[in-house]
Amino acid sequence: MSRRDPHSYNDSDQPEVESFDWKARIDFESKVLDAEVVHTLRAPGSGIIDLDTRDLTVVTVTSDEGRSLEYQIAPAEPILGARLRIKLPHETRRFRIRYRTSPTASALQWLTPAQTAGGVHPYLFSQCQAIHARSIIPVQDTPRIRVRYRAELTVPPALRALMAAAHVERTVRDAAVEKWEMPQPIPPYLIAVAAGDLASRQLGPRSHVWAEPSVVEAAAYEFADVDAMLRAAESLFGPYDWERFDLLCMPPSFPYGGMENPRLTFLTPTLLAGDRSLVSVVAHELAHSWTGNLVSNASAEHFWLNEGFTVFAERRIVERLYGEDVCALQATLGRRELEQTLTRFAPRPELTRLRTSLEGIDPDEAFSDIPYEKGYLFLRTLEDAVGRARFDGFLRAYVTDFRFGAITTSDFEALVERELPGVLEKVNARAWLDGPGLPDNAPHARSSRLDAIAALGTAQPTDEQARAFSPVEWQLYLEAQPRPSPHERVAALDARFGLSDSTNYEILAAWLELAIPSGYAPGITRASEVLGRVGRMKYLRPLYRALAGRAETRKVAEECYQRYKPGYHPIAQQVIEGVLRG
Ligand code: BES
Ligand code: ZN
Repeated sequence: MSRRDPHSYNDSDQPEVESFDWKARIDFESKVLDAEVVHTLRAPGSGIIDLDTRDLTVVTVTSDEGRSLEYQIAPAEPILGARLRIKLPHETRRFRIRYRTSPTASALQWLTPAQTAGGVHPYLFSQCQAIHARSIIPVQDTPRIRVRYRAELTVPPALRALMAAAHVERTVRDAAVEKWEMPQPIPPYLIAVAAGDLASRQLGPRSHVWAEPSVVEAAAYEFADVDAMLRAAESLFGPYDWERFDLLCMPPSFPYGGMENPRLTFLTPTLLAGDRSLVSVVAHELAHSWTGNLVSNASAEHFWLNEGFTVFAERRIVERLYGEDVCALQATLGRRELEQTLTRFAPRPELTRLRTSLEGIDPDEAFSDIPYEKGYLFLRTLEDAVGRARFDGFLRAYVTDFRFGAITTSDFEALVERELPGVLEKVNARAWLDGPGLPDNAPHARSSRLDAIAALGTAQPTDEQARAFSPVEWQLYLEAQPRPSPHERVAALDARFGLSDSTNYEILAAWLELAIPSGYAPGITRASEVLGRVGRMKYLRPLYRALAGRAETRKVAEECYQRYKPGYHPIAQQVIEGVLRG
C-alpha cells in the first residue's frame, strides 16, 4: 500500500521477512542479549536483503544448512544505525544471524536491583517505538512490513520474562526458559520484552495485570475497569483481534505513560493514584489495538494516523464510561497543551503539520502532542461535519479495509473520499494535513464544569469545588494561572490544598509547573525530588524546562540531571539533554 520509509534501510524491491525465530539469553551482568535470529522470507528469494541494525555485534550469518553467507555492515548513521546487507544465495527461504546487543542498546533499559520496587532482583525492559527494535534484533525495522515471531528467552530462574505475545511455556533448570509466540503479524516497533521479579492478578476474562509483587495489588485495583473498556471499545470498532489484553505496570523509569505493545500494554506506575482517576491512558493504549496495531502508520511521517485516531477513540471510550463532561474536560486540556506546543514549535512549523516529512529527522526528536491533539481535532471536525452516525460508519470501514495493513495519509484521504465524499474539501482538509498550526475551524469542547473553572480566574476554588475537582479540573485551573504568580498567592494555594504533597502525578506536575516559574521554594525542592523518582518524559520534560528556563533555578536543573541521569532511560536522557541545551 505504501512507498518509502525514511527511517529504514529497507528497499521495497527486496525480499520481505515474513516471520522470525528469536533466541536470546538475557545477561544482566554484562547488560547484553546473546542472541540469534532465524528469518523466514515470504517467498524463496535471492540477491540482496538489507536489515536495520543499531549497535549490534554480528557474529555469524549462515544459511539454513549452516553455510556462511556473505554480508557487510555499513558505517553507522546517527539516526538510522547501520545497514546489514546480506547476499542471499539462490532460492533462500531462511537464514540465521548470531549476534550480541550492546550494553547501550537504545531500546533497552537495564535496572539494578536498587532501581526496582523490590530491591532484590534486576529488571530489564524494552521500548522499540519508533525505531529502536533494530538495537535488539536485526530486522526490516519499518511498520510497512509485518512479521510474526517465535521467541525463546533465557533468564535467571528467579525471574519471569514476558513478551507482548502469547505465552507458550516456561521451563526451569539452571536457568528459566520462557517460550513465546506472536501469532498476529505486527510491525517490528511492537516487539516488546520485560524481565524481572513479576507477579500477576486477574482483572477479567481476557486480562491480567503484571507488576513487581509489592505493586501488583495496587495495580489490580487501579486498572479494575479494563474489561468494561474492552467491551466499550469493541462496540465502537468491532471485535478485539488480539485475544488477550494484559497490562504490565512498569518500573518508575519507564519513559512513557503507556505503550500499546500488543497483548501486553506497558504502563507507567505514575498512573497508580489510588482512585482510578488516570485510567484514560489505559483506554488510549487499548484503542491502539485497532488504530495503530491493526491499522498502522506506514512510517513515522504518518504518525498522526496512529495517535490522532487513538486519542479520538480513547475519548469515545471515556465518554461512554465516564460521561460527556469528563470527555470535554480532557479534550480541553488537550487543546490547551496543543496550543502551548504550537507556540514552542513556531520556529519549526513543518513539524506542526499532520503529514510530516522526516528525512534526516529522528522521530524521537519530532515527537510532540501535535499528532495527538491536532489529529484528534481534525477527526472531530470531520465527525461534526457529517454527524456521528456516518462518522462511525467511516471508522468501521477504516478498521475493516486496512486491517493488518500499513497506510499513509493519502490512503486515509482516499478512504474518506470514498466513504464521505466531499467532506475533505468542506472542512479544508488540505490545511489540516499539510498546513502548519491549527486551522480556524478547530472545534471547541463545551461543558458547564469548564465554565465554572473559567469563572474562577485567579480566585481560589471553594472547598466544595476543590473537593469535587478531578485531576483534569485541577490541571485546567492551575494551567490558567499566570506565571509568575505572586508568591503569596502560590503559597496560599499550597497551604490550603496541599498541592506540593499531591499523590496524583498529573496534579503535582501541573502544580510544579506553576510553582517553579513563580519562584516558590518548596515547589522547587519538590520538583527535584520528583525528577529523582520518575522517568516519565511527560513530567521530566516540562519540569526540566521550567527549572532550566529561569536563571535562579538553571543550576538545580543541571545538578538534578547529573545526579539522576544514570536512572533515566536512554531515550529520556537524549530528550533532557535537548531541553538543557535549550
Ligand atoms: N505509542 C505511544 C507512545 C510512544 C509514541 C512511544 C512514540 C514511542 C514513540 C503511546 O500510545 C502513547 O501515546 N502514550 C501516551 C499516553 C496517551 C494517553 C497520550 C504517553 O506516553 O503519554
Ligand atoms: Zn498512543
